[in-house]
Amino acid sequence: MQLALDATSGWDLDAQPKPGAQPDLAAARKVLKRVWGYPDFRPGQDEIVEAILAGRDALAIMPTGGGKSLCYQLPALIRPGLTVVVSPLIALMQDQVAALRAFGVEAGALTSANAPEENAEIRGKIWDGSLEILYVSPERLAVGDTVSMLERVGVSLLAVDEAHCVAQWGHDFRPDYLGIGAFRHALERNGQKIQVAAFTATADEATRAEIVEKLFPEDPIVFMRGFDRPNLRLAFEPKRSARKQILDFVTARKGQAGIVYAASRRGVERIAGYLCEAGIDALPYHAGLEPEVRQRNQERFVREDGVVMAATIAFGMGVDKPDVRFVIHADLPKTVESYYQEIGRAGRDGAPADTLTLYGFEDMKLRRRQIDESEGSEARKRGDRARLGALLALAEAPSCRRQTLLSYFGEAAEPCGNCDLCETPPERFDGTVAAQKALSAILRTGQRFGVEYLTAVLMGDATDQVMKFGHQTLPTFGCGAEHTKNEWRTIYRQLYALGLADVSVGDYGQWTATEEGWKVLRGERRVELRKDAMPKSGGRSSRGAPAPELADEADNELLRALKHKRMELAKENNVPAYVIFTDRTLTEIAVVRPRDEAALALVHGVGEAKLKRFGRMVLDVVSAAA
Ligand SMILES: Nc1ncnc2c1ncn2[C@@H]1O[C@H](COP(=O)(O)OP(=O)(O)OP(=O)(O)O)[C@@H](O)[C@H]1O
Ligand SMILES: [Mg+2]
Ligand SMILES: [Zn+2]
Repeated sequence: MQLALDATSGWDLDAQPKPGAQPDLAAARKVLKRVWGYPDFRPGQDEIVEAILAGRDALAIMPTGGGKSLCYQLPALIRPGLTVVVSPLIALMQDQVAALRAFGVEAGALTSANAPEENAEIRGKIWDGSLEILYVSPERLAVGDTVSMLERVGVSLLAVDEAHCVAQWGHDFRPDYLGIGAFRHALERNGQKIQVAAFTATADEATRAEIVEKLFPEDPIVFMRGFDRPNLRLAFEPKRSARKQILDFVTARKGQAGIVYAASRRGVERIAGYLCEAGIDALPYHAGLEPEVRQRNQERFVREDGVVMAATIAFGMGVDKPDVRFVIHADLPKTVESYYQEIGRAGRDGAPADTLTLYGFEDMKLRRRQIDESEGSEARKRGDRARLGALLALAEAPSCRRQTLLSYFGEAAEPCGNCDLCETPPERFDGTVAAQKALSAILRTGQRFGVEYLTAVLMGDATDQVMKFGHQTLPTFGCGAEHTKNEWRTIYRQLYALGLADVSVGDYGQWTATEEGWKVLRGERRVELRKDAMPKSGGRSSRGAPAPELADEADNELLRALKHKRMELAKENNVPAYVIFTDRTLTEIAVVRPRDEAALALVHGVGEAKLKRFGRMVLDVVSAAA
């Protein structure tokens, strides 16, 4: 084994595999501490690393930001030989290589974006055996001389990142990924068996089966890590004044990096516009922008500190900036899976991060219409409707949101204490009578009207429209005066989420009663509703300042100085700021105020290479602030 730190760095011999013995986890932990400066594995990483060190083929499913990369990077340093990593996006590879190099690891990427000299240099390191981790873009796998070179030098581990890209029916399918099997075959030409490890955050069964079939000659061990990301705070709010809700939330977190997802390009532009007006460093990102603009905005978001990106879901894969502190959905996401993936971009460093999802009637109708008007088969649409239903159920969840979310993924959990519903349990009431009135308004008016109209009827509001249809004579007319207009909207929304009423496509969003709704009308079923949702002028999510626990204790003056230094170093080295040190590391330094290298080395994320390269400068900043 060759570690990329220079020869004087005093590499711990214990971490090297003894001849004949398998490297064990204790050795792996030492490398983890020494190179990355992490005190321990994240949940699940240890068993995966252990399996890979033992030479097993493995498929690991871990949530976004769970720490998958480390599971192949660490064994790559411990075991002899070259680890080849296949990854779908060039930008993603470049960031990973930059991060590894900052940790002192010899890593490189062979991609079409490289200059010829760069490729030549990497090839040189492959030939002389000094390269430890090689990232290869999938289209390079079919390039003959890449394959023959790797076949000759020998590959000890083939790691496939974002392995769901091999699934043909999945949303991220990459035809090039289908070449991985052939690539493995080619490497095995000389009779050597190549160990394969595949990683993804997508866990549904069909995708898993397809990954196994396409990538593994024999069944691998499968690791499924829990979905919980306890550092993410979950919150939903009905849209009242979306603009104000978003502005309040973001200004309370000024200076933090965040993403605001919107359903349309127009929405993105609007949001980026008013955030900028409010003095937030915000940028837009959507498919309608010139590629260069998009690229530049993404780069600024990743590289700089505290940029807020207003984006459509086109902004997604490849954004593995670890210190995104919040994700807002300005519109209802598509499914629970996409919701989870999108909020998963926050807090990948494990520090507290906030999420907020806004939803309203218009969203429900829009999503519903998108499904109904889509091209898929009837069965597919039924599936999509069910998935939308699950998301609405999450939006209208009666208790702990995380429990509801995890149970969707088949996981049991205790109330989390880190969601809006745990913090402020919603008031509930027996809504049977209200539901009956709301449903009867739907039926008596012939299941032809939208919520505005139905509410007018319930409130006894004799509008021109109501008069025109003669509905002021209905027994339902004016029977709902005990609730406000807004409350009726909330009630209708909940009826929809509960599957008691349905909205059809069409300009008005005509409401109908479902089979279950009829049961309520006939008195066969009771309904519990949430009072909630009335403007309580915001829970902690829209008001209070965000609270990474440490940040409160940190000397802010010092933290600012450290961030400034980080920016300088990042510019100098032409890497994203987090590659130098993450927020978490800087905050910890600002709390601990290390006086010497030994103390600095104990800080999270300070490995040997970074200590050597940046330690002195960091200590100078600390002592200057004293
Ligand atoms: N044991 C650990 N201790 C502390 N931080 C860790 C640990 N392992 C990984 N991390 C950090 O967690 C962050 C996310 O890791 P990583 O990029 O590997 O996530 P991922 O599982 O690949 O997510 P995605 O599915 O989004 O690609 C990185 O900044 C990484 O350095
Ligand atoms: Mg990853
Ligand atoms: Zn909870």
